[in-house]
Amino acid sequence: MNVENIRLINFRNYKSLNIKLNEKINIFVGKNAQGKTNLLESIYICATGRSFRTNKDKEIINLDKNEAYIGANIKTDRSQKFIEIKMERDKQKRIRVNKVELKSFKELNSGLNIVVFCPDDLRLIKDGPFERRNFLDMSISQIKPVYKHNINRYNKILFQRNNLIKSNKSKSSIISLLEVFDLQLVKTGTEIIISRNEFIKELSKKSYNIHNSLTSGKEELEINYISNVKFEDKNKIDIEKNFLEKLKANTNKDLITGTTEIGPHRDDMEIKINNIDARNFASQGQQRTIVLSIKLSEVEMIRSERGMYPVLLLDDVFSELDEERRRYLIRSFNEMQTIITSTDIINLTELDKVDKSIFYIENGKVLQ
Ligand SMILES: Nc1ncnc2c1ncn2[C@@H]1O[C@H](COP(=O)(O)OP(=O)(O)OP(=O)(O)O)[C@@H](O)[C@H]1O
Ligand SMILES: [Mg+2]
Repeated sequence: MNVENIRLINFRNYKSLNIKLNEKINIFVGKNAQGKTNLLESIYICATGRSFRTNKDKEIINLDKNEAYIGANIKTDRSQKFIEIKMERDKQKRIRVNKVELKSFKELNSGLNIVVFCPDDLRLIKDGPFERRNFLDMSISQIKPVYKHNINRYNKILFQRNNLIKSNKSKSSIISLLEVFDLQLVKTGTEIIISRNEFIKELSKKSYNIHNSLTSGKEELEINYISNVKFEDKNKIDIEKNFLEKLKANTNKDLITGTTEIGPHRDDMEIKINNIDARNFASQGQQRTIVLSIKLSEVEMIRSERGMYPVLLLDDVFSELDEERRRYLIRSFNEMQTIITSTDIINLTELDKVDKSIFYIENGKVLQ
């Protein structure tokens, strides 16, 4: 899978850009604040329909203009897709695939698979569970489009359930109305739990091996799924049963706190190296290596599930990795299109041998 070209109009600091990308390695070099991350952001939006930096589309539109456009041609072995996104101030963005308009960006499924690795990803280790759930949702959606649908549905039911328990209806009528919501929440929530459990098991296995070789056998990485619903070695019916029982047992508490405590919206991932919690004990470099192992595992998982490699986006990560880890990363580029940004020319002999294009970014303009 690869992005053949990208066209931007009034997208952040790009007034007008039209570039053709290399099928293998693309290196974008530029000083700070020239538009490197903006360019990766535009590709990310083509894959997911939203930005990794903001929820407010209007921030993306060039400050002096009222509308922005992104257009990208995506090629796979089997198909050709032309993804277009148009944003207007104070309006919903519009997305077209092969000239057909989508009802919502939520329909933008698997047109383009990407894996992003950027310095901010350390938040996956350091920050709270929200970041890790977000990672899970983004990653699983790419592999399993129905998962995204389940997440949207689950969030909707949860929102309605929370509204109901916060309402000023009588306790007995709330409890009788909860019957329906709880059953729906459990059905959809169980699908999510099963998908997350499968994903994390595979991720854990793959990233153990990658991390082990990245650290020359010195570190053992372990990733576990944490949920307040029992999921281990149980079938769907058992998970649903346990989920519903816990949800019901917690109803009185939920009514007091005005929120729902039981369910996958409280899930987390435990990340350990050599049996010690990485969040509190791993050094910056160790955390970065964990993220690298996780991201490279994700690449492999997309490849085995979808039968083709994703596009790899690397924002300014080379300067932060030591030489051994850089070499490892470059070796993994072999099969896939990679788009790299850097403030300096990347000096590595490994890169001499590969097919690549180097671009220079200056103030929203790209020179080759
Ligand atoms: N909506 C917008 N309109 C115009 N300019 C914008 C808009 N949003 C962001 N910018 C500008 O785009 C510039 C480039 O941002 P970007 O994050 O891509 O830089 P970068 O090259 O990745 O820099 P760094 O090396 O510091 O990460 C910034 O100066 C920012 O102010
Ligand atoms: Mg940047």
